[in-house]
Amino acid sequence: MLRLAAIAALCAVLPAAASDEGPGLGQPVGDDEIPSYFRSVMPDGQGLPPGSGTAVEGQPIYEAQCGFCHGETGIEGPIMPLVGPSADYATPAGAYWPYAPTLFDYIQRAMPFYAPKSLSDDEAYAVTAYILFRNGVIQEDASMDANSLPAVQMPNRENFIDLWALQGATPY
Ligand code: HEC
Repeated sequence: MLRLAAIAALCAVLPAAASDEGPGLGQPVGDDEIPSYFRSVMPDGQGLPPGSGTAVEGQPIYEAQCGFCHGETGIEGPIMPLVGPSADYATPAGAYWPYAPTLFDYIQRAMPFYAPKSLSDDEAYAVTAYILFRNGVIQEDASMDANSLPAVQMPNRENFIDLWALQGATPY
């Protein structure tokens, strides 16, 4: 009997606890309940959030949260200098990034290394703008947002080879 009462008490408590942490299993989730890092930003900019930022706004964020790993000015490292070409990147600046929205997505999802997913949308736009500016890709006062970031032409884009297209296949 005591056991039954305990189960009944648990049942009364559980739904309340679940609703505190968001919708229960199988319940629809509103846009405002999805954390920013669950979104996927596509190379063409689909999925980019509202908000904006410039290199001027991004510089103090970079200096406080990124510089001690990637180099005070972006060149020194010790880890993967973000401003190239450098010893690590003989190829043009931003060599591994054919599309600027992907840079935003990576930074917001994975950086800073000690606290990934901690940058707000505006901070992620601003620090992305700062890295693009330092690489000579955009102007210092250019505002990056869901419209302007996809329009940025990355310097090494034409050197990527679309293997799927070469084979006449479509990946999905
Ligand atoms: C504690 C050290 C550390 C800090 C701080 C840090 N990063 Fe990184 N970053 C790394 C490491 C390590 C990698 C490589 C990760 C990998 O390849 O998996 C990396 C990779 C990157 C890359 C990809 C580099 C490339 O050329 O492919 C970018 C862009 C980047 N970080 C941006 C940032 C930004 C912006 C910040 C600040 C908001 C930041 N990082 C803070 C350690 C750090």
